[in-house]
Amino acid sequence: MSHAWLWQNRGVTEPVIRPATAGDVEALAALAAETFPLACPPHTTPEAMADFIERHFRPEHFAAYLDDPARRVVVAARGGGASDALVGYSMLIGGEPGDADAAAAVTARPAIELSKFYTRAGEHGGGIAAPLMAATLDAARVTGAVVCWLGVNEENARAIRFYEKQGFAKAGRKHFTVGGRVENDWVLAQPLG
Ligand SMILES: CC(C)(COP(=O)(O)OP(=O)(O)OC[C@H]1O[C@@H](n2cnc3c(N)ncnc32)[C@H](O)[C@@H]1OP(=O)(O)O)[C@@H](O)C(=O)NCCC(=O)NCCS
Repeated sequence: MSHAWLWQNRGVTEPVIRPATAGDVEALAALAAETFPLACPPHTTPEAMADFIERHFRPEHFAAYLDDPARRVVVAARGGGASDALVGYSMLIGGEPGDADAAAAVTARPAIELSKFYTRAGEHGGGIAAPLMAATLDAARVTGAVVCWLGVNEENARAIRFYEKQGFAKAGRKHFTVGGRVENDWVLAQPLG
């Protein structure tokens, strides 16, 4: 399978990985609300998660993300790729890292942040995350970025293992605030060859 930005396997149950479109914003909001808690450490309260979701993952937020030329949103879908069958998504943000610790840890430029990378719980271990990552890194390369970086909670062992399998390596530390509580993140990065 080539690492094409857009491809579709044959067969109704095979995943489709494609750029998000305006028709996906409702489904993306629902998917983001469902999957965000999967990345939070166990002590994050339901109220803190709900507040974060309300401020970042409404359909109008995703409409703005899709309109932002600095961002790329990629989706994974089953059942032919329709927006109501989304099972995963990613979001890239190009430009100078907005986080000072990340900017110091990742020195190559231009840089692009892998800001979101989520699949539904029922898909974990099912093999969809790797092709979603391949398409996401292809989309990052197309922007001209030479390095892709991300922040991941230090307690999120599964995601860290996945990212390291996918070529990311620890570059430093940063912090992330949810519900007023400061969390410790690893900064992971990989060069875009
Ligand atoms: C991160 C994510 C996309 C990875 O997809 P996935 O289908 O789970 O990935 P894989 O199964 O290919 O890889 C996960 C690896 O972690 C391992 N793993 C699972 N649970 C683990 C744990 N508790 N500790 C350490 N490793 C763990 C798996 O065995 C696998 O490694 P292996 O292939 O060597 O056996 C998915 O888990 C996800 O959406 N998680 C919730 C959202 C999230 O955390 N996103 C990242 C935010 S930064």
